[in-house]
Amino acid sequence: MSLTLALLLSSLVVSEGFRYKGAGTVPQLVATAVYNSDSERCCKGTVHPGVNSIKECCGANVHDKSTQECCDGQVVEAKLGHLCCGKALYDTKTSICCRNKIVNVEKGLDFEHLSCCRGSAYDTTKQLCCPQATIDKKHEDHTHCCGNHTYNPKKSSCCSSNVNNVHVLTVLPFEGNKTTCCEGKLYDRGSEMCCLTKIVKYEGTGACCGDASYDTKSHLCCFAPSHGFKLVAKSGANDSCCLDKTYNTHTQACCNEKVIENANGRGQCCGTTLVDTEKQVCCLAAGSLKGVDKKTVNDSGCCGEVSLDFKKQVCCRNKDQKDVVVEKGTPKERMCCGVEAFDPSGGKLCCGGKKIDRITHYCCGSKEVAYANVDVACCGSELLFNPKKDACCSGDVLKGVKPRVFAAGAGSMCCGEAIFNGSSGEQCCDGKVYKMDPNEVCCRDKKYDQTKFVCCGRDVLPITANRSQCCFTTITDEGKDCKKKMLNYVLKRLE
Ligand SMILES: *[C@@H]1O[C@H](CO)[C@@H](O)[C@H](O)[C@H]1NC(C)=O
Ligand SMILES: *[C@@H]1O[C@H](CO)[C@@H](O)[C@H](O)[C@H]1NC(C)=O
Ligand SMILES: *[C@@H]1O[C@H](CO)[C@@H](O)[C@H](O)[C@H]1NC(C)=O
Ligand SMILES: *[C@@H]1O[C@H](CO)[C@@H](O)[C@H](O)[C@H]1NC(C)=O
Ligand SMILES: *[C@@H]1O[C@H](CO)[C@@H](O)[C@H](O)[C@H]1NC(C)=O
Ligand SMILES: *[C@@H]1O[C@H](CO)[C@@H](O)[C@H](O)[C@H]1NC(C)=O
Repeated sequence: MSLTLALLLSSLVVSEGFRYKGAGTVPQLVATAVYNSDSERCCKGTVHPGVNSIKECCGANVHDKSTQECCDGQVVEAKLGHLCCGKALYDTKTSICCRNKIVNVEKGLDFEHLSCCRGSAYDTTKQLCCPQATIDKKHEDHTHCCGNHTYNPKKSSCCSSNVNNVHVLTVLPFEGNKTTCCEGKLYDRGSEMCCLTKIVKYEGTGACCGDASYDTKSHLCCFAPSHGFKLVAKSGANDSCCLDKTYNTHTQACCNEKVIENANGRGQCCGTTLVDTEKQVCCLAAGSLKGVDKKTVNDSGCCGEVSLDFKKQVCCRNKDQKDVVVEKGTPKERMCCGVEAFDPSGGKLCCGGKKIDRITHYCCGSKEVAYANVDVACCGSELLFNPKKDACCSGDVLKGVKPRVFAAGAGSMCCGEAIFNGSSGEQCCDGKVYKMDPNEVCCRDKKYDQTKFVCCGRDVLPITANRSQCCFTTITDEGKDCKKKMLNYVLKRLE
């Protein structure tokens, strides 16, 4: 927490209280009552009379610290040697608390070595809390669980294996250098390796191809979903896999899993065929890739099924949604406006597929409007209106309120979907228009008299005294609880 926030928070809570007033309050808060912090106490939505240092909030209740205990919002009479466990007290001499549940301890068990395991007590010197059950240790040096067995990881391994599609865990004691698991068996990592589920001798580079080891210097490991793993002898350093065959990446290509000769190295895959990159480009036409002859040597792209030189041309779409190659007038014309090349950084705007002068005109949706034409204005992206007679409420996309044109007059202002006269004492409360007296202000979409009421989040509640504050159901007015909970709301308000 930053210093300023800490200061803000302490001043809000301690010096002047936390008072929500007017519109724009915190929506998550629910207040059930109003209270006077000088003479009353707010405990999570319930108002209690009296401010007394011995009494403290306990959930929505009040408890007397000198004789009572507060257990998870429940008030209980305090007893010597007892502590809270969930909403109740328990005797620390005869029981322990596991996950808010009181567990009676059998006689003879040493409390110092007791711990909880899934809501039950167990003796840590004799048992382990394993993922599925509390398990008796086979040996006192056992520190780890392996399914429902215990073991010492310095002397054994916990091995997993698949037996008839069932995942099984077994403890295997080390055998000399064999200390690592491979599908239910141990192997020596210094001389062996585990390929998938098989233990194999360590070969040259120590790579696996399926369940076999191989030397990456002499072989390639090719994988195809239909064939699985296959070892193929390498003929040179430029070999690579093409499905389950090898090919020379320097003189051949692998297009769509088939090896194709590519002697000059200029070919590039285009679907199932090879295109000569000097003479052709690869275009997507009618859903499939195909080679298209270049019109000029500098063509490097496609416009539909025709080649294109990005430096000199742009690809525009006409009214029938067909791609059309358009020559650029200048290199800066990198976009289309309709079916003409267009320079967005120039003095023109593209409006409805037409270039318009941005100094003298503006674009309303797709209509060109002259600034000089003062008899018309844009509302939203299309509603043209006469600004001398009408006003435009721009709407609110988030609230689904559409732009609208209204008959205007002096003082006209927008309020959600309505219009109101801002100079005649009317005000807009969150989309609703109210005629307001000087004492009245907004509380969300309602209005209220602030000398008689308080705005508590989304409700308007009557004042009981001049220092009336909202009593929210999620906050108590005192101690750490209040400050901690307030912090979240303050952070939200600062965002
Ligand atoms: C472990 O013990 C628990 C409780 O006795 C049992 O439900 C579970 O199936 C056992 N797990 C294994 C892997 O044997
Ligand atoms: C076990 O590993 C050590 C060190 O790698 C080696 O010196 C020793 O010969 C190995 N013992 C066996 C039985 O392989
Ligand atoms: C492998 O490819 C590189 C460049 O990709 C080439 O210079 C080299 O001659 C090729 N070697 C063989 C054996 O094909
Ligand atoms: C291709 O581009 C080069 C370099 O930009 C240029 O010198 C040459 O005139 C262009 N050729 C054609 C046919 O446009
Ligand atoms: C708005 O209120 C003011 C003051 O009452 C008045 O002069 C003006 O004509 C009103 N405008 C409209 C459009 O009613
Ligand atoms: C609030 O204080 C004012 C002046 O201090 C007083 O006139 C008024 O009666 C008080 N209202 C309440 C509800 O206590």
